[in-house]
Amino acid sequence: MQSVFIFFICLPVVIVNSLFCFWNSGCPYRHFSTKTPYNLVRGDIRDSVIKVKGCTAVSIWSLYRHGKRYPNKHSAHLMENAVAIRNHIADSFENGKCSLCAQDVDNVINWKVDHRLFKGITELTDEGYREMYSIANRLKATFPDLLTNLKENEFTFRPTADDRMEESAQAFVDGIGERLSIEQLKVNDSITPYTSCGKYGSEVKDNPKTFEESSKYQKSSEYLAMKDRIQRRAGLDIKLTDDNVTALYDLCRYTWSGIDSIASPWCTVFTSEDLQVLEYVEDLNQYYKSGYGSPMNELLGHIILADLLKSFQQVKNGNGKRITAYFSESTTIDMTLSALGLFKDKDVLRGSQRNRDRKWRSFKQSSFSANIMAVLSRCYLNGNEDYTVVFYLNEEPIKSICLEGICPWKEFEDKFKPFLDTNIDFCEFNAIR
Ligand SMILES: *[C@@H]1O[C@H](CO)[C@@H](O)[C@H](O)[C@H]1NC(C)=O
Ligand SMILES: *[C@@H]1O[C@H](CO)[C@@H](O)[C@H](O)[C@H]1NC(C)=O
Repeated sequence: MQSVFIFFICLPVVIVNSLFCFWNSGCPYRHFSTKTPYNLVRGDIRDSVIKVKGCTAVSIWSLYRHGKRYPNKHSAHLMENAVAIRNHIADSFENGKCSLCAQDVDNVINWKVDHRLFKGITELTDEGYREMYSIANRLKATFPDLLTNLKENEFTFRPTADDRMEESAQAFVDGIGERLSIEQLKVNDSITPYTSCGKYGSEVKDNPKTFEESSKYQKSSEYLAMKDRIQRRAGLDIKLTDDNVTALYDLCRYTWSGIDSIASPWCTVFTSEDLQVLEYVEDLNQYYKSGYGSPMNELLGHIILADLLKSFQQVKNGNGKRITAYFSESTTIDMTLSALGLFKDKDVLRGSQRNRDRKWRSFKQSSFSANIMAVLSRCYLNGNEDYTVVFYLNEEPIKSICLEGICPWKEFEDKFKPFLDTNIDFCEFNAIR
């Protein structure tokens, strides 16, 4: 009996070790908050488009977060330093102190440094270009009549604020496959009302209170246990700071290719549980900076939705655009989703406890290239003309705004009209950020 018992105890240990390697695990955790590659979350508009009998698409209004970009200067610096952590991992593996799999350690050691990663500073990456290009390409395949032979006054492609938005707009236009002009950068337009809203700056964006809940969470036992786990699994004798953990997290997500389906070897230092803890830190940040955590965010989102209503009203009146596409940042997307009442939890998110079943999830809402599209169709039913609006998030229909995801014009207008009267005088408009 004794030997059988030992047999059962020992054998699983040996097997478990090779089963739980990162390189051969079938489905590693891939929700990387705001740095999630689009291909890990997207649907496909060609398959998911909702067609209604008797209706023809006449206009698309859409809002995109820029495609995958390089890290900002601060993160790039920390990441570049953190690459040296792999030498510590190699040492501890040699000395039998590291419980990562041999192949996973090899893969981290052999990972080739791509210097653009640290020098590209918030520029659009090649993957980001391809994300945007492909969205437009699929959109054109879905609505070929609408998006072919666009005339000068029939489209708006407008990036906001920065180079990566402009590059995203260019990638999108390339994907449509026609020579179309992109508008000049504008700072204080209807899509980014928050950029010149002084009160938003002082009370939300630059207010340390906004990040209080995530700081609180970073002191929780759950967060500390995560750090300890990384330290122990990798067998590191250096003490990891929060910055080091974030840098490793960034190495893992920035070097993951969604479009080529190549997992980043750096992710091996994290368990799925670790990644979920890190995800929550960012979900909290986004929630307070651009979501339900601060009431101003929803109000600013109303201004964006008012633009959508006006845009479709113009089409109905015979002088609208066939496509309107804005290219902006995660803040814009989050504010719009909040104004639509999507991803809203009953209870406020807190740093004191992580709600595992929360609706608010930045990996879906603000992955790279995350997008909200609204498609206006003209319908002839029983000889009467009417219009419908269908919403999509990341190329999947949003079914919760109207029944079955299809809004009859009247219902759409009733829901959106109040946004035209949104008063944001509280902003105390001032110099552009
Ligand atoms: C760890 O983070 C600290 C700052 O918190 C930094 O000074 C140090 O260089 C980092 N170490 C590595 C190996 O990245
Ligand atoms: C920005 O837009 C708002 C609303 O349209 C306007 O009231 C404000 O004066 C503008 N601010 C600047 C600095 O142009």
